[in-house]
This record gives sequence, C-alpha cells and structure tokens, in this order.
Amino acid sequence: MVYDAEWLREAFVKHLSVFTNRRRTVFGRALDYTLFVSEGDHWRHTRRIVSPEFSSGKIKRMMPTIQDCILLFVSNLDKSNEKPIYFRRNCYALLLDIVSHTAFGLESDTQTNEDSQFTQNALRLVNNAEYKKTLKQKLITGLALILFIWAPTWVVRLAANSFNIALLDIEALGYLEQICEKVIANRKSGSPEPSFVQTLVDSLVEAPKGHPDTLVDTNGLLWSKQGLTSQGIVGNALVFLTAGFVTTSNTLLFAFYELAQHPHIQEQLYEEIMEIFHTDDITPEQINEAKLLEYCINETLRLYPIGFRFDRATTEDVTIRDIFVPKGTMVTAAPWTIHREPEIWEHPEDYDPYRFLPDRFTQKQNTAYMPFGIGNRACIGQRLAQLEMKMTLILTLKRFIVCTCEDTPERPIKFAPVPAITPEKKIMLRFVKR
Ligand code: HEM
Repeated sequence: MVYDAEWLREAFVKHLSVFTNRRRTVFGRALDYTLFVSEGDHWRHTRRIVSPEFSSGKIKRMMPTIQDCILLFVSNLDKSNEKPIYFRRNCYALLLDIVSHTAFGLESDTQTNEDSQFTQNALRLVNNAEYKKTLKQKLITGLALILFIWAPTWVVRLAANSFNIALLDIEALGYLEQICEKVIANRKSGSPEPSFVQTLVDSLVEAPKGHPDTLVDTNGLLWSKQGLTSQGIVGNALVFLTAGFVTTSNTLLFAFYELAQHPHIQEQLYEEIMEIFHTDDITPEQINEAKLLEYCINETLRLYPIGFRFDRATTEDVTIRDIFVPKGTMVTAAPWTIHREPEIWEHPEDYDPYRFLPDRFTQKQNTAYMPFGIGNRACIGQRLAQLEMKMTLILTLKRFIVCTCEDTPERPIKFAPVPAITPEKKIMLRFVKR
C-alpha cells in the first residue's frame, strides 16, 4: 500500500509499461473481456477501440437522454412532498435509467418501479447490499471468494463458466448478457438508436477459434486482432454497470449530503446556477463556466473517493526513487488516505470546495488528487460521470433546497464494510421546493 503521491505518479505515469496491469481478477464469461480486468496488449487493443465512445462529441450526444432521465428524477423528488426520503435509492434509480438508455438503448422503468427487473439484476450483479441475497446466493459468493483468493486462475474460470460459482451473480449476468445480445442482433438488422453497445457493434468481428484474425491468450480467452468479439462488446457494455453505476450514484449522494450540511455553500452554488443556466437545456460551454459546481464535485470526490484504492502488478523489476520493486509486486495506491493527508490538505475533514480555487490549489495537492486514478489506466468514464453529476445538481438545485432532517447521519459519516464506499446508516434528506 503506497501513500506517497509523488512516488505513485512516478511509477504509474512515468513507468507505464511496467505498471500496466491490475491485480488479476477473474469474473467469468463476458466480464473477463472488460477494460477493467484485461491485461497487456489485450487491454491496449480494447482501450483503443472503446476510447472514442467516451469522447466529448459522443458524450455531448448523450446529453438530451441524460436530461430526460434527470427530469424524471426531479419530478420524483417533487412527489416526495418535502418529506424525508432515502435518497440513495433515487440516485441509483437515476443512474440505472441513464445506463439503460445510453449503454443499451433500452427504455427502462428503474425510476418508476422499485422492483424493476433491470434494477434488481443490476444490483445483484454488483453485489449491492440493497439486493437481499438468498442463503444459496450468499454461499456461492462465499465459495467464489475463497476460490478467488486461493485457487489458480484456471480453476476460478472453470468454476465460473461451468458451475456458475462466481464473484458476480451469474444469473444477473446472464440477464444482462441477453439484453446486450438482443441489442447487437437488432443493430445488425438496422436499429436507429445510437447507444454505446450499438455503436460498438461497428467494431464487431465474428471470427471463430482458429481463424487467422483471432488468438487465444494464456488465460484461454478468445480475442479478435482487428476489432471486438461479441463477448468483448457485451463485457465492455457491462462496464457501465460494474464500473460506472455505483461509483457515480454514490458520489451524487455524497454531493447532495454535503450541500445539505453546508447550506451557505448550497446557496452560493444556487446563485451560480441561476446566473448561468437560464433554461433546462444545458450546454457543455455553460458547464465549463460553472466553477463552483466543479469545485463542489471535486471536493466531494476528495472526501469520498469511491475508488478508494487501485492497484498495479509490476511486469518487470524496477527501481523508483531508490526503492527496488521486484517483478510481480502488487502496488496499491490509497487515495482515501492521500486525500486526507494533513500535510497536504488544510483541515482535511472539512468540506471546503473553495480549496480548489486556482490561487489556493497547490502543486502538491494537484499531485495528490486522484479520485479517477492515474496513468494510462485512469478512469475512462471520468468525463461522462462528471457530466451526469453536474447536470443532476443543476436541474435539481434550480428547483429544490436540499436539507438535512432528524434522521440524517451527522458528519463524519460512518461506512459499511463493503467494497464501494457506502454509508453505514441510510442518508435521509428532504427536498424543499424553491
Ligand atoms: C464518480 C464516478 C467514478 C469514479 C470515482 C471512478 C473511479 C475510477 C477509478 C479510481 C478507476 C481506477 C483507475 C486506475 O486504476 O488508475 C477507474 C477505472 C475505470 N472506470 Fe471509473 N469511475 C467513475 C465512473 C465511471 C464511469 C461512469 C465509467 C463508464 C461508464 C467508468 C469506467 C471505468 C473503466 C472502464 C475503468 C478501467 C479503465 C482501464 O483499465 O482502462 N468509471 N474508475
């Protein structure tokens, strides 16, 4: 575990070729092809194909869809009649709605139906505590975890692919895989909706094992040298759920929570929003103008970096700043601790968005700030996540004042012992109409 940000930057940024891979993780089936877990040349190949889907142009095209989802979110807040609500549900229902539209091109009912099939399967897939597992499901996850820690990769893959014993819920995975496959089939027959899966289909290369365009890697996975196989497309579409949904929805939850705890900052943000955004049709240029909005998101991510640790496995021996790191070492960066280092951040536990003002934000802080990771494997969805969060804050705060209530947990929040940063107690908030 490394807490020295300068050392980490030198390792992960300057020695890219040695620090390219993460800890080897086997989920089974299509998920083994995702950007998050793929390694070496396969990762480079996939990132090159998937990156244009996250360009500013592509994201701009998603804005009207994202806006529609947020307008439904605010109309649900309106229906709460200023009573305290368990706000986390609203946040993940919103993000799932956005994901189902933008990634899969699917109409969804995640914001109107708590038991929506899409929601239940997405929560199951990411092992979210909101989904109450049966005893059988708990035993399978426990067994998969033991295999993941102790067994060789091929055993873990065999258990997942042949016996449905996997870290992620195989039934939920099957449901979502089917959705992707349908989208791929429709696209081939000329469907009009340009979702993420649908545009990725352009890079689809169907080549069976043994075809000269394919190769099988040391893990037994089949890759296409020219584009993505259908497994690759499905796996990378599921990244929206596995890497993009809990991260963004929990960050939104914390952003609103801190604004409710700091009404004077919320009021200043409201003034900025009213000055810049005269209608609900938001443009990227307007968003660039909204500096306090940016600082509020930055400060939320400093205090609650959802990816609170990320790692790299070294592929060669290397010496960095006089420290010898042998090949195969797992180097873990710890942003949670680095973002709270008192020598770098004044009053680190305080929520102070203004610390990001250019004349206050120091070079040391810039080096230490890493909520989306660092180096060539930094988060590919950063721009999309920021846009989703900013648009949600704008369209909500124009209409409501977010307030704490009797049941809102006090700062500092205590966290549940689960992988994503998740509050132990329910965050209850009230939305009072302006
Ligand atoms: C607030 C929201 C988010 C946060 C805080 C976050 C954070 C992170 C972090 C810390 C990493 C690891 C970086 C590293 O190892 O250096 C990462 C990787 C990744 N994230 Fe995000 N993320 C967010 C949203 C998203 C979204 C919306 C998507 C996609 C729709 C996404 C897709 C990915 C992918 C694919 C990777 C792996 C990239 C690679 O290995 O090439 N993330 N994210």
